[in-house]
Amino acid sequence: MDIVNTPKVLGLNGFGLEVPDIAVARKFYTAFGLQAEDRAEALLLRSPGRTNDEIVVVKGAKKRMHHISFYIPPGSQDAFAEKIQSYGLKTYDAAPPGGVRNGLWFQDPWGTWINLNPCLPQPTPQVLLPAFNLGGRADRVDVNLWQELNKKRPPLRIGHMLIFTPDWEAAEAFFSDVLGLRPVDRVVGKGSFMAAGEGVVDHHCFVLMKSSHRGLQHASFQVASFDDIGFGAWNMREAGYKEGFGPGRHAIASNLFQYFRDPWGSWVEYYADMDKITEKWKCRDWSALPYTWGPEWSPEFWSQQMNGNFEPA
Ligand SMILES: [Fe+2]
Repeated sequence: MDIVNTPKVLGLNGFGLEVPDIAVARKFYTAFGLQAEDRAEALLLRSPGRTNDEIVVVKGAKKRMHHISFYIPPGSQDAFAEKIQSYGLKTYDAAPPGGVRNGLWFQDPWGTWINLNPCLPQPTPQVLLPAFNLGGRADRVDVNLWQELNKKRPPLRIGHMLIFTPDWEAAEAFFSDVLGLRPVDRVVGKGSFMAAGEGVVDHHCFVLMKSSHRGLQHASFQVASFDDIGFGAWNMREAGYKEGFGPGRHAIASNLFQYFRDPWGSWVEYYADMDKITEKWKCRDWSALPYTWGPEWSPEFWSQQMNGNFEPA
């Protein structure tokens, strides 16, 4: 195999959703902090300041994950097309119905549409945070912190998504070989966390979780601080979205988290302070709790509570 020419995605661009009522999606995701734009039949959602469509929502009979989109290096489309076609899969230069996005399209062996967008990701915005008086430090003196905190700062960007999949080990091998995603940690018997890009990158941008069929488990958006998770949770509760999970700190990737159930049974997450990794990171198998502190543990976490796959098979 020619390692030099093996194409690799640069990161997660976004995803697509079919939902029965687009107005419900608009209300939920704008309460979460995303900006909405109508384009033809689609609702486009993005963290304020981002130029990419992080979520594309189109109308469908039932809620269903429509597609997944990754960034690829500009000029790498032919290399990806060749790789995909070597699996006997067709590639397309035009989006399937409801896909909206430009770039290369194909359906993976499980039937999920994948979009490869030839574009470099925008850098994550730098955010000036206040000083904290942690431990014995006195970095903030004679300052009324609570008056200065930004209570409405929206998410910075989409960071990762978890999808349900059958054959998660085969799916891991496919996404590794065809897209250049690399496994960085696994949950024994349950799933694989995968990273993209070179140098210092997020611990993961994409996760495969064992299930009977494909579906969206959650999409996760980075916020600037623990306070931003708290304010986000407060704002969602005030907007009437009360089914949450968190706050806590994950085990794998160590990120702080707060989830909210979306109107169709999946979740959306605010996260902050995720582990960053390089090529030196060693992939390991884990079987500990999904979080190192957080809500009371329930065995239901692995079934209905967090990991119920409510999408049509
Ligand atoms: Fe997450």
